Amino acid sequence: MKPIQVGLLGIGTVGGGSFEVLRRNQEEIRRRAGRGIEITMVADLDTKRARAIVGDGVEVVADARAVIANPQIDIVIELIGGYGIARTLVMEAIAAGKHVVTANKALLAVHGTEIFAAAQAKGVMVAFEAAVAGGIPIIKALREGLSANRIDWIAGIINGTTNFILSEMRSKGLDFDGVLKQAQALGYAEADPTFDIEGIDAAHKASIMSAIAFGTPVQFERAYVEGVTQLQAADIRYAEQLGYRIKLLGITKRREDAQGIELRVHPTLVPATRLIANVEGAMNAVVVQGDAVGTTLYYGKGAGAEPTASAVVADLVDVTRLITADPDHRVPHLAFQPGSLAATPILPIEQVITAFYLRLQVADEAGVLANITRILAEHAISIDAVLQRPNREAGAAGEHQTDLIILTHDTLEGHMNDALAKMQALPSVLAPIVRIRKEELS
Ligand code: HSE
Repeated sequence: MKPIQVGLLGIGTVGGGSFEVLRRNQEEIRRRAGRGIEITMVADLDTKRARAIVGDGVEVVADARAVIANPQIDIVIELIGGYGIARTLVMEAIAAGKHVVTANKALLAVHGTEIFAAAQAKGVMVAFEAAVAGGIPIIKALREGLSANRIDWIAGIINGTTNFILSEMRSKGLDFDGVLKQAQALGYAEADPTFDIEGIDAAHKASIMSAIAFGTPVQFERAYVEGVTQLQAADIRYAEQLGYRIKLLGITKRREDAQGIELRVHPTLVPATRLIANVEGAMNAVVVQGDAVGTTLYYGKGAGAEPTASAVVADLVDVTRLITADPDHRVPHLAFQPGSLAATPILPIEQVITAFYLRLQVADEAGVLANITRILAEHAISIDAVLQRPNREAGAAGEHQTDLIILTHDTLEGHMNDALAKMQALPSVLAPIVRIRKEELS
């Protein structure tokens, strides 16, 4: 049978990795897919670099539209990234009847609904395993392997850059800025690192997983997003003393009681004994809790040329296997049939239920703790643990001050906001209160 012909848009790190993996493993891939898969055309503005990567025998062009217009091309891989020209080209490829493979989480998080609807109408597939957690086949697991389950929640370390930063800060006591530069030099960070450190990249990925887990449209615009830029060394240290690690988690949770879904990205205290708390460096991990299977954990490299290529090429195999199948009998883009998507809303952050770590810099005098615990009690917030430590960072000024660290049990975020406003107004509270959410993940 004639090999499947693939056109590649954008041959950077992941594109080069995909070309190499497909070339190196072509025989295995042909045996799996039932026919050969070949990248026969590459579009990149830097045609010289593209030619250097692919060698002779592959058509190299500067104009991506030449790939889309080529009737020989069956599948277009989009590795340009971003929401701009990538969106136009993906929509044009779909309109031209091409199947699409993309690693573009930002594009699917923001325009997924439009893209999947267009693909559905045209009867083509849009495959995106590489968009979430790089080489970890989490989309496959959620869409197919776990399709018997009602998924209760997902919590994932889905941004390698921030996990690397947090790991280095904790293990080496380094500060945030220095570690970010290191992560950029190692090539983990997005072109614009604010997407990593402000939690946006993780929110893109969490939004995609949430839609697939709960059968809703992708709702990135409703996600609560908080990055790691405000984290202080003191809190990483105190968390450790209390038996916790701080991780930037993407969390999505079914909330039957509120008829909604939680979708949030923020630094989170996780018990140090949990496997996910021990995921270090740029590695990714996703925990999925299903009603039948229980808790499952998926771990691996979330970025990099060949780990991401592993997902891109697996998508090429999937598309090839199903290319002649009746479109109605393929795996739905968002796991649920398009006509069966639910309008379940994402809950505002005030309605989220979680536990908290609080750090209050207070005057070390009688009655201070009593005032604080009274306010928490008035808001029905139950205390789990209290720790009092001299404030190392405050120097001589800290002589009559102390750090008060409080862990709470689960509460409504709205209740905590009200309590925090009252505690902050106490004259004995000397600095902005630090609040970090805490999840037991059990
Ligand atoms: N910047 C991303 C990360 C790359 O750090 O995980 C993979 O999406």
